[in-house]
Amino acid sequence: MIKTVGVLTSGGDAPGMNAAIRAVVRTGIAMDLRVMGIYQGYQGLINGEIKELTLRSVSDTLQRGGTFLQSARCKAFMTEKGVKSAIEVAKVFGMDAIVVIGGDGSFRGARELSRMGMTVVGIPGTIDNDIDCTDYTIGYDTAMNTAMEAIDKIRDTASSHQRCSIVEVMGRGAGHIALSVSIANGAEAVIVPEKEYSIDEDIVKPIFECRNRGKNHYIIILAEGVGKADEIASAIHQKTGIDARVSILGYIQRGGSPTARDRIEASRMGAHAVEILAKGCDSRIVALKDGMITDIPIEEALQMKKEISKSDLALTKVLSL
Ligand code: F6P
Repeated sequence: MIKTVGVLTSGGDAPGMNAAIRAVVRTGIAMDLRVMGIYQGYQGLINGEIKELTLRSVSDTLQRGGTFLQSARCKAFMTEKGVKSAIEVAKVFGMDAIVVIGGDGSFRGARELSRMGMTVVGIPGTIDNDIDCTDYTIGYDTAMNTAMEAIDKIRDTASSHQRCSIVEVMGRGAGHIALSVSIANGAEAVIVPEKEYSIDEDIVKPIFECRNRGKNHYIIILAEGVGKADEIASAIHQKTGIDARVSILGYIQRGGSPTARDRIEASRMGAHAVEILAKGCDSRIVALKDGMITDIPIEEALQMKKEISKSDLALTKVLSL
């Protein structure tokens, strides 16, 4: 029987994390559970930075970006000693279970907690949408929309100057944000880490072809996991004579008020996490699959590698004609 649940956010923050925390707190209290807020991720768990959360602790948080519990990337948690001391601190605060909101690195931490006897449930929260067990991760929609609005603005100036803009978007080793915005912004080419590319075939040739069809400016979306933005810009200039400029969108993509989609999915996922804990589930990751909120074993979730959509890659090519 679970009586006290801890909740933490870990790794890169993502818009919508507050909505997930709020759902954990309010669903938990509605089910007569105590909910403890663990500040600054796993580091805060080790350090005992823990406070009980009430219904009012989460008032006015739904619309705010970031995470009010704050986040951290914790090196100490990579060691057995770190995990053991985290569990001891959790016991001091009477926690029977912990909800971890974060990405795959955070879930590896959750798996270690679980292997040492703590009951855990993970909620996928990362702008990268790179967790295979779920179609959706909290923060992805807001990040895509933020990037899309920025790229629209970049297109205005690229068009005025008949330039090529190379826009680098976040995603760590994954190209999901890059591919999505390349469709949303009508990019002339997209380069993602999941697919090998050649500057001549995948960038220079499409630019020449677009120019021959009457285009006078070009947007190339580059996933950060590929890197080499400056190298690509000079190759474009050298091979086509077209002026090329680099914009790296960076952390702007991680901030901002969450979109409706992020608030709604985060709320559903937060509530589901508490419901399955109350039913006695352990070591599971909450997921959105085919429009339904579900959950799968953490061990299984961590073995999967999310692929990039081949049909969306093909779509960007056709739509850039
Ligand atoms: O995982 C989210 C993310 O924003 C990635 O897209 C990016 O590569 C990384 O975090 C940056 O991490 P940090 O906040 O440690 O610089």
